[in-house]
Amino acid sequence: MKISIIGTGYVGLVTGVCLADKGNSVICVDIDKNKINMINKGKIPIYELNLDRLLKKVLSKKTFFATTNLEKSIYNSDITIISVGTPDNNGKIDLSYIKEVSKQIGLILKNKSNYHIVAVKSTVLPMTTELVVKPILEKYSTKKVGEFGLCMNPEFLREGSAIEDAMNPDRIIIGQYDNKSGREFVKIYSKFNCPKIFTNLRTAELIKYVTNSLLATLISYSNEIARISEGIGGIDIVDVWKGLHLDSRLSPFKSKFTGKGNARIKPGILSYIWSGCGYGGSCFPKDTKALVKLAYDIGVKPEILNSVINVNKTQPEELVLYLKNIIGNLKNKKIAVLGLAFKPDTNDTRESPAIAIIKSLLKSGAIVTCHDPVVHKKDIKMILKYPKITFASSIEEAIIKADAAIVVTAWEEYRKLSPEYFKQKMKTPIVIDGRRIYSKEEFLKENVCYKGIGYR
Ligand code: UGA
Repeated sequence: MKISIIGTGYVGLVTGVCLADKGNSVICVDIDKNKINMINKGKIPIYELNLDRLLKKVLSKKTFFATTNLEKSIYNSDITIISVGTPDNNGKIDLSYIKEVSKQIGLILKNKSNYHIVAVKSTVLPMTTELVVKPILEKYSTKKVGEFGLCMNPEFLREGSAIEDAMNPDRIIIGQYDNKSGREFVKIYSKFNCPKIFTNLRTAELIKYVTNSLLATLISYSNEIARISEGIGGIDIVDVWKGLHLDSRLSPFKSKFTGKGNARIKPGILSYIWSGCGYGGSCFPKDTKALVKLAYDIGVKPEILNSVINVNKTQPEELVLYLKNIIGNLKNKKIAVLGLAFKPDTNDTRESPAIAIIKSLLKSGAIVTCHDPVVHKKDIKMILKYPKITFASSIEEAIIKADAAIVVTAWEEYRKLSPEYFKQKMKTPIVIDGRRIYSKEEFLKENVCYKGIGYR
């Protein structure tokens, strides 16, 4: 199929490259000329594993290119996927990009005689496609939906494994305005072997929010339980989760399917039932807040979601409290913060717990040295607006002569650090494990002062 995708952000670009690799002809459109030039040269504006390799492949096969020309792109395609940002605006999602793009598409569809489908891929709240996108498209095209197709096709990509997720989706959800829209649109996925579910537009929109908010709920639940277990005392939350994860409803025996052995299936959802310093990124924080706002708007009090957000808001501070309990006054103490990205394998620091932790440390007068394998110094300085933090270019530089270290992101290189290493380099070997990635026993054996979420 011939597809145009508007917005070359993380979702648009990954989707475009993957759809092109699966036999479609894709044009990615963006208003940012520099980005377009970069992409056409095979360079990617974001950090994402394997994306540059696949981009170069589809560029050389000529099944993909990028442009700023929206009109030509729509004329030269049968389907347009809207993949522009829906940023958070005080808990509400900002639909201005969606509205502007819908208007532009409408104006072009006015003069296009062939049947064309518009699909929304941006994350939008239930009813947005029907009540915002559809009327704008109809107004500016002077056509009624039906004369053109309309779908809502949410994405379930995770940063850091977006290519893997996009190439091997677990399900494809197609919200369709009418059967014809869905029937034609699904052709872009003809080479994808997974269940394809057809729903109405608002159901597709809700499935996306429900997926993210359930995962966020599991994380906040795990963090609240960590607080309770700390309050009881004498419990390590890691043991609690190990015990829970073995419930065969959470990790079934493989023998159920193969008939032999005691091995378990370890569903990915288990890693969200684990205590840490809270969720971040561009999706969970924004989507939970937006769902809460929608709930209030329709007269429902979202008790669980409110708590999920509140627990997450206060979770980063827990790590600073551990530190204060050990050291006391943090004034002029050198504290190393290991990890700035909201999770490993991405350079994304949006809503990263690291930001809240660093701010709190600075407020307490600490001297902060931070490190991250991929986040750039300029990005973090801009976010923090504090010239006072030091950005170390190696782990060693970050922890050398430090009074304490806080591990915020579970990067592989941090997992590999031994207690001896911390002991050798630091002034006082105090390690706060914000992701519970170390063996408590090994650290304690080496006389490192080890504390972590769910183990005080
Ligand atoms: C999330 C969803 O997982 C995707 O399915 C969805 O498409 C995406 O949002 C989106 O809406 O665009 P992403 O934000 O990239 O993807 O990250 P996740 O890997 O799910 O991580 C989100 C948060 O959960 C992070 O703070 C991370 O630290 C935490 N997390 C992640 C865990 O606690 N455990 C894990 O195993 C993975």
